[in-house]
Amino acid sequence: MTQTSRPYLKIMSLPNDDPKKTLFIAVLLCLVCSILVAISAVALKPQQMANKQNDIKKNILAVSGLLDDKTNIEQAFKQFEVKIVDLETGRYADIDPMQYDQRQAAKDPNRNVQLSPQQDIANIKTRAKLATVYLLKQDGHIQQVILPIHGYGLWSTLYGFISLTSDLNTIGGLQFYSHAETPGLGGEVDNPKWRAQWHGKKVFDEQGNVRIKVIRGFVNPNSSEAQYHVDGLSGATLTSNGVSNLVQYWLGDHGFGPYLAQLRSDRGQ
Ligand SMILES: Cc1cc2nc3c(=O)[nH]c(=O)nc-3n(C[C@H](O)[C@H](O)[C@H](O)COP(=O)(O)O)c2cc1C
Repeated sequence: MTQTSRPYLKIMSLPNDDPKKTLFIAVLLCLVCSILVAISAVALKPQQMANKQNDIKKNILAVSGLLDDKTNIEQAFKQFEVKIVDLETGRYADIDPMQYDQRQAAKDPNRNVQLSPQQDIANIKTRAKLATVYLLKQDGHIQQVILPIHGYGLWSTLYGFISLTSDLNTIGGLQFYSHAETPGLGGEVDNPKWRAQWHGKKVFDEQGNVRIKVIRGFVNPNSSEAQYHVDGLSGATLTSNGVSNLVQYWLGDHGFGPYLAQLRSDRGQ
């Protein structure tokens, strides 16, 4: 018998209703459980990261209209060119997209910019200096550009993607992959019928102003503004306004505006 096993045996030999034994068993149980939780958290981390990456890829395919039941996500995602953009200049940065996490960068004072109240219509306070973009090309020409967007709704920050088609003005789709708005109210941002409305809407007017907007109520199809308007979510005006603001922010001068201008000038538009 070793010295160390003796106190253990001494406690275990106490009657079951002895408070010392109860406390000892409770502490031992907590210790064992926390070790098990820590081991599973560490062991499952790579799997969680892979699932997260897979979900992002799935959403990018969905917003581009390339996802159906039979899609092989890894394979289909290879069609995209992934690039990192400096949002201030609109030019590509020489950074490996696989090593860059925009959400992390947005929290890092060395890699983010603080937004003034006038700039911060999406209610995000800071944004990363660099952003990841996804290009779908055919014969070297852009067919779609998928841009990450986020901003505050009523209860939560909504994270998603917006796709612009080859004219860099027509919306291909909008999709959120993370938010905590109320199901049935703000959560209707995920409703495929509502999302379908975004397809074909125009972002900019002739003067280059961002005009896309989620309105209150229903879009009047006879209005000249209908091309820029999306129906508001009924009973969820605050989430609707949040979506409107975040889309306007990311497509505006402080978001991807300089990048879109750069793409237009690169092709002499
Ligand atoms: C429990 C609860 C959850 C709500 N969730 C949302 C929500 O996710 N998004 C939203 O815009 N409004 C939500 N609302 C309603 C807002 O408080 C507000 O009334 C609504 O946005 C106004 O929209 P309306 O003018 O279209 O009715 C919720 C209200 C309650 C009581």
